[in-house]
Amino acid sequence: MIRYLYFSKYNAWFTVKQLQNRDTIHTKCRAGHITGIDFSDEMLIAARENCGMFPNTAFLKGNAYHSTLPENQLDIVLERALIHHLNDLNACLKEANRIMKKDGVLIIQDRTPEDCLLLGDENHIRGFFFEKFPKLATKEVSRRYDSNQVQQALLTNGFRIDRIVPIWETRRRYTQFGELKEDLLLRTGRSILHELTDDQLRDLISFIQDKLIDHTAPIVEKDSWTVWFAVKE
Ligand SMILES: C[S@@+](CC[C@H](N)C(=O)[O-])C[C@H]1O[C@@H](n2cnc3c(N)ncnc32)[C@H](O)[C@@H]1O
Repeated sequence: MIRYLYFSKYNAWFTVKQLQNRDTIHTKCRAGHITGIDFSDEMLIAARENCGMFPNTAFLKGNAYHSTLPENQLDIVLERALIHHLNDLNACLKEANRIMKKDGVLIIQDRTPEDCLLLGDENHIRGFFFEKFPKLATKEVSRRYDSNQVQQALLTNGFRIDRIVPIWETRRRYTQFGELKEDLLLRTGRSILHELTDDQLRDLISFIQDKLIDHTAPIVEKDSWTVWFAVKE
């Protein structure tokens, strides 16, 4: 039985499907058990709601540093949008190594400083945030690991690097600008936009509207990510 784990919510499933040339992983996902782990109750509730239709899934409260899972059990571990929250990347990768089988695949998906700093355009809406408010870029980049740091941590913790893949992941499709505006107004909490005052957020939305003035709907918002595939030695 193939067992795997992801530190993620529902959209990790789709991320795995989107990755090109990884049909094997996709096949394993269909056949195996998925355990999703997060230390946030709110995130676990959302994950259970969004993944009710998938068989063989379970969601557990746990910490990426100390999952409490048994060792040498998992074929695939996916850590999506997790590592920029961690002060100790080594401790997280050590734990991933502990719970994985030999030759298991660890997939880390996150944004590097380079991903974050790509310029804004009709797809990369996030780039406009930083053009309008450079202080947000400074904040965003300060919490991101660069690719060399991730690679070094993987090697230090018993993995060999298989491949590093850049991807553009569709965040959402908006039929008109008003939908994007509503979405931006709701991006509080975990989004970098919670650094802005209400007035600044409104200024940003006007700025983006001007930038997109010549663009005909729909707007397809995409984010640039880096995905590291590593194999437990
Ligand atoms: C940006 S969100 C990404 C959520 C989800 N992984 C996804 O891909 O959509 C980061 C998540 O990491 C979780 N998190 C942060 N540090 C963690 C840790 N040490 N152990 C477990 N979860 C953690 C947060 O609770 C949050 O849900």
